[in-house]
Amino acid sequence: MSEHDPSDPLLAEQVAYYRAIAGEYEDHAIPGAGAAEVIAALDAFGPTGDVLELACGPGIWTERLLRQATSLTAVDASPEMLARARARVGERARFLRADLFGWTPDRRYDVVFFGFWISHVPLDRFEAFWSMIAAALAPGGRVFFVDDSYRPAEELIEGAASATVQRRLKDGTPFRAVKVPHRAPDLQARLGELGWEIAVTQTAGAFYWGAGVHAR
Ligand SMILES: C[S@@+](CC[C@H](N)C(=O)[O-])C[C@H]1O[C@@H](n2cnc3c(N)ncnc32)[C@H](O)[C@@H]1O
Repeated sequence: MSEHDPSDPLLAEQVAYYRAIAGEYEDHAIPGAGAAEVIAALDAFGPTGDVLELACGPGIWTERLLRQATSLTAVDASPEMLARARARVGERARFLRADLFGWTPDRRYDVVFFGFWISHVPLDRFEAFWSMIAAALAPGGRVFFVDDSYRPAEELIEGAASATVQRRLKDGTPFRAVKVPHRAPDLQARLGELGWEIAVTQTAGAFYWGAGVHAR
């Protein structure tokens, strides 16, 4: 896998956090409703054809995507997360270990999906990240993502204006991570400026989801 830019220790710490938390990740659910609405939206969107899942984590979405996908490639930087995802779905998906901030897609896909990832992309890497997605999409390809802006006060170690937060494992071990508190209308507008036609919808609960295409 491509190594992290050593000048960006925050992104390296973010990966270290997810590697360390893999075994307890599913115990850290975000409070509040909204998941059912997102799942209904994803099912209606229809992640069909050849699907690329970014930052797949332990494979919760991988499993759901496989209900409609013809093929599925799932990428994550954490071998611990990838092992959990593989244990969940077996060989039905192709798993790749890669740092998404240095990764070049190896082919084109009909759908790119990412769950709870866009908030972990620093704003100064936002445009490059979406360029990578554009390069990963086949003509007519579509994007679906889901995320939240949940940032409890105790995580805001640099204040509310900063995207850097501090998370803790159950044993109290602290890690810094990126958590950009996107608001649905602002995120939709930001994507529109980059040439994306993506509708971003806030659920009644904590989550927002986006679905759309790149206007080529
Ligand atoms: C919030 S979790 C989301 C996992 C999964 N998509 C879900 O919704 O349950 C973020 C994931 O991003 C992965 N990740 C963090 N930094 C990464 C990077 N630079 N490149 C690739 N994956 C990364 C972590 O290992 C983790 O699995």
